[in-house]
This record gives sequence, structure tokens and C-alpha cells, in this order.
Amino acid sequence: MPGYKRYTVTSALPYANGPIHIGHLAGVYVPADIYARFLRLNDEDVVFIGGSDEHGVPITIKALQQGITPQEVVDKYHGIIKRSFEEFGISFDIYSRTSNPVHHETASGFFRKMYDAGQFIEKVSMQYYDDETGHFLADRYITGTCPHCGYEKAYGDQCEKCGTSLNATDLIEPRSVLSGNPPVMRETKHWFLPLDQYEPWLRQWILEGHQDDWKTNVYGQCKSWIEQGLQPRAVTRDLDWGVKVPVDGAEGKVLYVWFDAPIGYISATRELTPDWEKYWKDPETKLVHFIGKDNIVFHCIIFPAMLKAEGTYILPDNVPANEFMNLEGDKISTSRNWAVWLHEYLEEFPGKQDVLRYALTSNAPETKDNDFTWKDFQLKNNSELVAILGNFVNRTLVLTEKYFNRQVPVRGPLNVADTAALEEMKLVPGRIASSSHAYRFREAVAEMMNLARLGNNYLTDSEPWKLFPNDQVRVATILNISLQICAQLSIVAEPFLPFTAARIRVMLNLYPMKWRDAARLDWLAAGHPLNKADLLFEKIEDQVIEKQVKKLMDTKQTNEAAAVASATVKPAKPGITYEEFSKMDIRVGTIIEAEKVPKADKLLKLTIDTGIDRRTVVSGIAEYFTPGEIVGKQACFLVNLAPRKLRGIESQGMILMAENPDGSLRFVLPGDGAVNGADVK
Ligand code: MF3
Ligand code: ZN
Repeated sequence: MPGYKRYTVTSALPYANGPIHIGHLAGVYVPADIYARFLRLNDEDVVFIGGSDEHGVPITIKALQQGITPQEVVDKYHGIIKRSFEEFGISFDIYSRTSNPVHHETASGFFRKMYDAGQFIEKVSMQYYDDETGHFLADRYITGTCPHCGYEKAYGDQCEKCGTSLNATDLIEPRSVLSGNPPVMRETKHWFLPLDQYEPWLRQWILEGHQDDWKTNVYGQCKSWIEQGLQPRAVTRDLDWGVKVPVDGAEGKVLYVWFDAPIGYISATRELTPDWEKYWKDPETKLVHFIGKDNIVFHCIIFPAMLKAEGTYILPDNVPANEFMNLEGDKISTSRNWAVWLHEYLEEFPGKQDVLRYALTSNAPETKDNDFTWKDFQLKNNSELVAILGNFVNRTLVLTEKYFNRQVPVRGPLNVADTAALEEMKLVPGRIASSSHAYRFREAVAEMMNLARLGNNYLTDSEPWKLFPNDQVRVATILNISLQICAQLSIVAEPFLPFTAARIRVMLNLYPMKWRDAARLDWLAAGHPLNKADLLFEKIEDQVIEKQVKKLMDTKQTNEAAAVASATVKPAKPGITYEEFSKMDIRVGTIIEAEKVPKADKLLKLTIDTGIDRRTVVSGIAEYFTPGEIVGKQACFLVNLAPRKLRGIESQGMILMAENPDGSLRFVLPGDGAVNGADVK
């Protein structure tokens, strides 16, 4: 590409609050990896940057839920995520993390430089506050209804349904995530990035400058943002987890996670090489951010405004954001466990990383949301990877083994079919390259598969197995050309299917080659010894796929049952005072006898040792418990309820029961060591 000496390729830093799934791979990491591998094959100077985003409220909330520290949360998930990336061949030059000291230093220095240059507005404002827990409620600590689309579980920084970026005060009926209470307002001081001041520049840089080279989904989102009018945005928060705000009078405040995280790309590059500045400050470096669509405004508007304000950095040349990959017709959701997790995939499909990479790339959500289905995954594997690519390479090698003692045979005179195949081969690398430079990886991978298809058809049509008895010279030519196609595949498949490309190279006994070699057509000289043929892919049977589909259907059922249960939980009763509550005398007691009440299906007559006395309690639990199973059990009893007669028996109290939404009953059990007569309060 003209004018660039080197490339800085970044991929969104995933939050270290959970493992990663196919949506992450399809949207961000596989395309970024294809691009980085493609550039390296072209001998470009490239750094491919990744890392974990370890700050922000999602992480502190996770820590709270699990009763551990935020550091423990990020340590756990950073490890899991990093490993998944390695396993899937995502070839980062560095996979770092934002809790590293070098990041804290870089982010804090960045803020300080802007601060010293007077580029923030310091503002005291009213913010939501939870006065029960004593927290300011920034970002994901607050939830409510999205003013744009009406989604009821939008967060204080973003609506995950419509993707709009929000301020906490935009939410309708806001509630604290910590206590569930409506928030109160409290005064606090923060630093704001005056985005409104960057509007003319953003209009010029994006709306005029990138109309033709940015993807329409990306350009469109930027345009609508700019046209809605940009507001100053707070870049600090009242939290104790994050990069401390490096100015006096900012105790208890940290940088907003979306301020520090993208600086993480820079910190990671610093960590990678002392020569990092050329990747960030030289205008001859092409900076490309791979992200999902929910990250567009941060990478196209806010981070560029920060880079521009700081003044010494280059700006992104492109931000090829993808749309979302859905799963079997539904949006991928961590909380509903509606996902294919990478670590689980590898347990079920060991060694099949390239199959997933291929399925996700050939169906990548490049221009619109797409759907991952297991059926389609099976189809991509069986009818493309197995039937075309695998079949072609395998037939070529097996035939060469059989006829020519595993050595590349001599290419003789060419016929029309040979020439056509060779002519077509010359065009393939250029096509893949131009699609890849334009971030159209679906198209690029389809061109790669077309080369395998070309080979497969060439071999099938030439029928060397029929010719061999009579025309060995011809067969030698056919297999020579087929082997050259395999060699070309080992180069051009590398960005997409790195494990497979390496295996083809091993079979062909070739060293890794460069993209400029891809159009040479003479990689394998006659006589070159080959290695043993090995199957690249294997068929995936229906029952394997059905098992995966069933797993998802089970998840769906569990989710639906949980939704029904939560919908039928009875609403809260009106409040009472402590005085009212304390009138009830509830005691621990033991059931010492139990019998059915004659002619009453629901009633059991219980004799209770209440610690105070022995008394009779008649209870409507006979449908759920037999006398035998409850004798000897401890439970809680209301002992000062006015006596009343049931079927002629006087009941002198009441056993406490938990009633599930479906009406079934469970004992309210005192803990171990509670003695009869203990007062429940
Ligand atoms: N953690 C963010 C997310 O998962 C992405 C951060 S990208 C970065 O949506 F640029 F800020 F690092
Ligand atoms: Zn919304």
C-alpha cells in the first residue's frame, strides 16, 4: 500500500471479567489476526497488539458478586483469555494487560500532559449516589431504561441493545446495581474532555476525509454521533479500581476505563519494544484498530480526540469494525450463557481450531449481523474443508506417493487445461491481497477456497488414475501442477488457516514462504522429496452437531424456566415497622410426632417440642411431606398465633414453610446447633 513504512494493528482489549466466545473471535480477533499474518507474509514491519482491559465497573461488579478482589478477578480471566488466543493461533506480538505498571505510568502520563496543557474542563456536578452502600454510581453501577430504544436494562454508560453510548443521567427510572434502590444526587468533581470543541476537526477528519475508505457501518455511526452534537465527557470516576488521577485533590478518583484502556495499546507497544515510538508517532505508520461495533465511538471519536489533544501521536488510518455474530438466531449473551466458549469448543473439537476460524471468517459479520449455526459449521467443514481443500491436497499427495515414490514428478508439455489452471493461479494472490487490504476477509477466504476448488476440479477432470497405465508423462504433469497448487495453498491459506498451512508445508517438505513467492508457480522442483500424506480435515457427523444444538436448547430451556420463575415470584408486601415484626414469637422446635388427619387430604397433625412446651400444630403440608420423613426434623414455628380448630383439632401455632412459585413447599431450616426454644428474629 502506498506511503506506509509500517503497521500498528490493534485489537480491542477484552474485559478480563469472563472467558471469550466465538463472537469475540469472529468480530475482532480472527480478522485482526488474518490482517497481521497477511502483512507479515508481505514482509511488512508490523506490530499486532492485544491485551486485557482490567479496569472498569464490570470487573469490580464481578468481584463483588464472587466475593473476591478485582485483582483476583482479572488474574483469573487474563490467564484464561490469553490461553484461548494462543490456542486459536491469534498471533499477537504482545498480549499485555492494563493492570501492568507500565500501563499505569503511560495512561497517567497521558492524562497529566493533557491536564498541564489545560485540555480538560474541571467541573463540580451532581452525580448519582447510592446512600445505602456509599458509592457513586458511574457506568455499570447504574441501570435503567434506555431513552433511545426503551431497553430496560441499559447501563449508565451504554445501552447494549441499541449500542448508544449514554450518560448515567440519560437513563429513565435509574436504579443502583448495588442495592437496587433509586439513586440520590451528590456533588463531586470531575475532569471532562470537551468533545464539542473537537467537532469541526472531527467533521473534517472523518466526514470529509474518510467517506470513501471507512466501512459504511463505521462511517454511519460516526456521522450520526457528530450530527447529534458532541458533549463534554467526564474522563474520571469516583472509584478505587483503576489508574489513579495524577493531580492534587483527586483522592479516590481514577481515570474512566475508556480513557485508560485504548492507551493500553500504546503501553503494550512500549512493553514490547524500546523502539515503540515509531509505531505511534511516525506519520508513515498505518494505525488500524480492529473492534466490534459497540466500540466504534470510542475508537473513532473519543480516542482520536485524545490522541489529537496530546499532540504527538498518529491517528488511526482505518477502524474496520465488524457487526455482531449471533448464535442460532439469538444475540450472544454471557449472562444467559448463550455462547460457544472457546475453551469449551476445544474440549469438544480438539485440534479443530482452523475449522472454527474458517467457519467464522467465511460467515464474518462484516457488513451486517450474522448468525453462527452448528449446521452451517458442519456444512463448512464437510463440504468445503473436507470435500474441497482436504480432499484435493490428500488426493494429490496420495497419488504422488503411489505413482512417483513420493517425489515431485517432471512437468511435461502443457495442454489447455494445464495452462488455464496456471493462468488462474497467477491471479489468486493479487485478488486475496486486494480484498485483505480492503478488510474484506470473507471475500479473501473465498478466493483461497476457490484456489482449492480449482485444484480439485483440475484433478478430477484430468483423471490421472485412468491415464496412468498408458500415459505416465501426462500423469506426471498433472501431479506436478496439482502439487504446485498445494504449495500455493500453503502460502495463501496461512493468514486464514495457519495450522493447516503449516501441515501442508510439512507434507510438501517446504519452508515457510512469503507472499511475493505466491505467484511464482515453481515452488517444487522435479525430484523434490515429499513427506507422508496426512488427512487435513475429517468429516463431522450429524450426532456431533446434534449434541451441540441440544446443549444450546437445554440452555434455552433453563433460561426460560428461570424467566418464568422470576416472573411468578410474588411482589413485595407493604412495609411494616420493627414493632409490628417483633410481636411475632417464632421459635425453633422439633417435630416429635406426625400423623395424617383422617378425611383431610392436606392436613398433618404434628406434635412439636417448642423448647417451651409440647403442643399440637395442624398443618396443610400433607401433599408435600409424609409423616415418616418429617418426624425428628427441626423447623421454625410461630408459637403465639391465636389457637384455632381444624377438623376438630386445636392447632396451637404454625410451622413456617417456604413456598416456591410452583406452589411446592420447603422447610425453613434452622442452622446447625440451634436448640429447641431458640428465638427467631
Ligand atoms: N474492553 C472493551 C470491550 O470489551 C474494549 C476496550 S478496547 C480499548 O468492549 F481500546 F479500550 F482497549
Ligand atoms: Zn438502547
